[in-house]
Amino acid sequence: MELLPFKQGAEARLYTSSFYGKPCIVKERFSKSYRHPKLDKSLTTQRIKAEVRAMLRCRTFGIPTPTVYFVNLENNSIYMEHMKDAVTLRQYIEDIQLQHPETFIEVLTPLAGVVGKLLAKMHSNNIVHGDLTTSNMLLQEAAENSVLVLIDFGLSYGATLAEDKGVDLYVLERALLSTHPNTECLFETILISYKAEYKNGAADVISKLDEIRLRGRKRTMVG
Ligand SMILES: Nc1ncnc2c1ncn2[C@@H]1O[C@H](COP(=O)(O)OP(=O)(O)OP(=O)(O)O)[C@@H](O)[C@H]1O
Ligand SMILES: [Mg+2]
Repeated sequence: MELLPFKQGAEARLYTSSFYGKPCIVKERFSKSYRHPKLDKSLTTQRIKAEVRAMLRCRTFGIPTPTVYFVNLENNSIYMEHMKDAVTLRQYIEDIQLQHPETFIEVLTPLAGVVGKLLAKMHSNNIVHGDLTTSNMLLQEAAENSVLVLIDFGLSYGATLAEDKGVDLYVLERALLSTHPNTECLFETILISYKAEYKNGAADVISKLDEIRLRGRKRTMVG
């Protein structure tokens, strides 16, 4: 089976290939030389298992993630569906900001609504992503409607606590605002949609988010 280099991340190399005739992505985690080899292997295995488990669970709740085709723990690889014609949300937001410098907020508002809804679905099913950034969301532009796909679940875990979900949202807020200038309104839209979808559970998470924001601010004030 031929592997063609596709992308390289901090902890993984990605290849395109095919699995029984289906276009696939092979995500291979590589070892970190600064870690003790045994610890390294167990961390890698843990991340792969977390990633696969979360992808499968998400799909059972109707949250789009790539289909997992195969896992090889010997060489630390996950074989998954290649999301064709997909761009990262990061790329998409950057493009829209360039194309519509005056009105990008209006253009991106419906998409922010979709993000909030999806995260509410994930959190109400007690899945915490652990690394929510605009690089870990793919926008697949199909004929009429576009689909938002969540990826990169290596740091995910099952959690029922509002605190963990609040941290998840905080990580996204920091990532969004630091990668994409002037997107505060979009994060607000994400939260409005999150609340509408999550209903009763949202209030606790949002109040945790407010606490975490305050802690963050205090830390920067102290230095
Ligand atoms: N199934 C997929 N289909 C299409 N593109 C993908 C797919 N999975 C990943 N990608 C692309 O590859 C990039 C890197 O993938 P991913 O985020 O899973 O790895 P990473 O950030 O290196 O992982 P980690 O943070 O676990 O080290 C993504 O941002 C996306 O552009
Ligand atoms: Mg990633």
